[in-house]
Amino acid sequence: MDRLRVQGGQRLAGEIPVSGAKNAALPILCAALLSTQPLDLDNVPRLHDVDTALRLLSQLGVRSHREGHRVQLDASAVSSVEAPYDLVKTMRASILVLGPLVARFGEARVSLPGGCAIGQRPVDQHIKGLQAMGASITIEHGYVVASAKRLKGTRIVTDMVTVTGTENLMMAATLADGETVIENAAREPEVVDLAAALVAMGARIEGAGTDRIVVHGVQALHGASHRVMPDRIEAGTFLCAVAAAGGRVTLTRAQPSSMDATLDKLRETGAVIECGTDWIRIDVQQRARAINLRTAPYPGFATDMQAQFMAVNCVAHGTGIITETIFENRFMHALELQRLGADIAIEGNTAVIRGVAGLSGAAVMATDLRASAGLVVAGLVAEGETLVDRIYHLDRGYEQMEIKLAALGARIERVRA
Ligand code: EPU
Repeated sequence: MDRLRVQGGQRLAGEIPVSGAKNAALPILCAALLSTQPLDLDNVPRLHDVDTALRLLSQLGVRSHREGHRVQLDASAVSSVEAPYDLVKTMRASILVLGPLVARFGEARVSLPGGCAIGQRPVDQHIKGLQAMGASITIEHGYVVASAKRLKGTRIVTDMVTVTGTENLMMAATLADGETVIENAAREPEVVDLAAALVAMGARIEGAGTDRIVVHGVQALHGASHRVMPDRIEAGTFLCAVAAAGGRVTLTRAQPSSMDATLDKLRETGAVIECGTDWIRIDVQQRARAINLRTAPYPGFATDMQAQFMAVNCVAHGTGIITETIFENRFMHALELQRLGADIAIEGNTAVIRGVAGLSGAAVMATDLRASAGLVVAGLVAEGETLVDRIYHLDRGYEQMEIKLAALGARIERVRA
């Protein structure tokens, strides 16, 4: 298993590009299932999760051609409606084929994802929404088995804000008979990007980006081209790296308008931030100030940025309180950060982090994608060597992270197993 070796203590300087958003690319790849005509995507990040999604689509009979960051998908000859456990267990976003398969083919067999390192993460809202649209759904041998002649538009109120739940239902509704209203919809920018791709395919969608999405079903979707939005979490991770390590960095190909909560918190740490339409510059000349934050659905503070800000708080001046409200077990990185000398007390879903003057490098283990990113941020400031193990988590969601950080002057390298 590959590891990352980080020698902490370098300030970061320079310019790096932001990649396409993983959490927009994954649902948009699945949207290809909704049409017999090709979907042409650009800015698709080269990530392990994207490989998994393409493998899953290929098992269903979707042909794909990938060149650099372009992916062309052709779902004209789908031969299976089954998403097997082997793939779904490695990537929960596989559940995103459920809505499109039922909508276009009237049937789907998608494995239930099972356990997850950050929380229970059930998919009951995806199922409840599809049932409300007339699908008959049973759970058989660990699989969600769904069937419907044609889905029918209806009003769906989800019990909580769910990102992939909203995406699954929105995709299903594009081919349903009549109007579907999704209330309490997720407002995440990735939902908006998916809606833009669907609209380019001929879908009729209003309200994406608000908590009420209205979809007027159409008979068929057609081919389209779409450029995947920039990854706001990858961008935020690099900004946290600078907030912790100090320096002056410009991110290009970014989308600062989707990052208000993150940018506000970075400014609270004392970072000076300037933005254009598609770039962000961060300048950090002093030790960060500790900040308090509480994760929430968009436009609140993203749970996917929580671990990285915890790492910043570890070396900040003062005490910061972080409350995680989205996932019940998303503090695994705290125990690893303590191995680097961080002072963190956890009580339930709250972490109290007392900034220390310095961390000291150690071997640590990544437990999930964003936890790993938090450990890398901490490693960049820790004195001596930090060895981050199990970085396959990082490879799922960060494109060439170590190469980008090295381009900023970080002393970081991949140690091949
Ligand atoms: N929930 C339910 N039932 C459902 C759906 C969700 O109880 O049917 C609960 C979840 O257990 C959780 C909360 O609702 O407590 C919110 O979960 P959500 O469904 O929004 O999460 P998700 O769609 O599974 C996406 C991202 C995650 C990100 C969350 C929250 C993708 C592919 N994944 O997951 O990204 O943390 O939204 O913003 O979009 C990551 O990239 O590292 C990652 C975990």
